[in-house]
Amino acid sequence: MIRLPLALLALASLSGCGDGDREARRARLGPEPTLEARMSVADPAAGASVFGPCKACHTIGRGGPDLAGPNLHGVMDAPIGQRLARYGATAALRSVGGTWTDAAMDRWLADPARFAPGTKMIFPGIPDALARADLIAYLRTQSR
Ligand code: HEC
Repeated sequence: MIRLPLALLALASLSGCGDGDREARRARLGPEPTLEARMSVADPAAGASVFGPCKACHTIGRGGPDLAGPNLHGVMDAPIGQRLARYGATAALRSVGGTWTDAAMDRWLADPARFAPGTKMIFPGIPDALARADLIAYLRTQSR
């Protein structure tokens, strides 16, 4: 019977750490980890918090409405800027071509204006590379 309280304690201390222990993961990865290395330790629950500011302009639930930006349900691996016929993505974004791979999404979230010059997504980008990986892992969970 002593196991249960201990397990609860462990859970509580984990969930108390809102960034999914990002600093510990960062330390393990070392300087300038590759995207592949970052994705191998990415934490979708931590990514859900990184998504907070995105909610000003995006919903992510299935069938959610477009706000200033398009609904993002199932965006990973979908064609860039072409997924929702009802949403008028800019030519700047549509002309990028290809699909939202981890690598494309990582570059977009680092600096939208650099990835698609002329985009109407006015967002400075997320400088923290591991936070971007967490966010991408979260986006991948929002597809069912
Ligand atoms: C100030 C409003 C705003 C914020 C904040 C914002 N976006 Fe956007 N987002 C947009 C707009 C507008 C577009 C359409 C861009 C275009 O057509 O050039 C867009 C487009 C996108 C797309 C492309 C969708 C597709 O169908 O190809 C993705 C992915 C995306 N945003 C993710 C995010 C994420 C993740 C965040 C948070 C880190 C975020 N956005 C924050 C406004 C915003």
